[in-house]
Amino acid sequence: MRFYEEESVSAEDAEYRVWNPFRSKLAATILKDVPLPFLHPDIRILYLGTSTGTTVSHLSDLVGPGGSIYGVEFSARVMREFLERVARVRSNVFPIYADARDPETYLDLVPRLDLVYCDVAQPDQTSIAVRNCRTFLRSGGWLLLAVKSRSIDVTRPPSEIYREEAEKLRNAGFAVEGTVELEPFSKDHAMIVAQQG
Ligand SMILES: C[S@@+](CC[C@H](N)C(=O)[O-])C[C@H]1O[C@@H](n2cnc3c(N)ncnc32)[C@H](O)[C@@H]1O
Repeated sequence: MRFYEEESVSAEDAEYRVWNPFRSKLAATILKDVPLPFLHPDIRILYLGTSTGTTVSHLSDLVGPGGSIYGVEFSARVMREFLERVARVRSNVFPIYADARDPETYLDLVPRLDLVYCDVAQPDQTSIAVRNCRTFLRSGGWLLLAVKSRSIDVTRPPSEIYREEAEKLRNAGFAVEGTVELEPFSKDHAMIVAQQG
């Protein structure tokens, strides 16, 4: 079943949705050959900044009926679309209309997690991610942090900003496994993969 205007292909009596790396930083990360061994069926994910749910819909396929995705979004208009297109029709997606800066407001809705995925495109994106990891992520759990350098400083080289954000994670007790720049799929974006100590 298609959820946005993505293409689909049929093979051997099944229909597959095309996952477009120009529309999803997670697809771009996978195409950059970043190993993501923790991304398997049945995991519990907190997704910060769902937007209308393009990437969440693919993650929902990936984690299957045994997995769960708790999706946080603070824009009412965007959340309405996310609800209609994705959350209402997928039993493993749980929408949370809240500001990701205040994880205490959804404390009762989210269990202990295996992965926090953060794509909020805010100047304080790393601190938002760290606060949510401290609140919900199990020890040894994973963080995928999409860094939009232009949200932090348009005047400095993006690579400098990625290094600084990775350093902030190390200072917060994470082991940073790697940083991958997402060009040509996503300009001035990188994905940082880190593990909570
Ligand atoms: C770059 S878009 C996310 C795209 C989405 N991850 C995808 O791949 O389809 C960023 C989203 O984060 C949301 N956002 C930004 N700051 C937020 C915050 N503090 N709390 C919750 N959502 C936030 C924005 O409203 C926007 O929808």
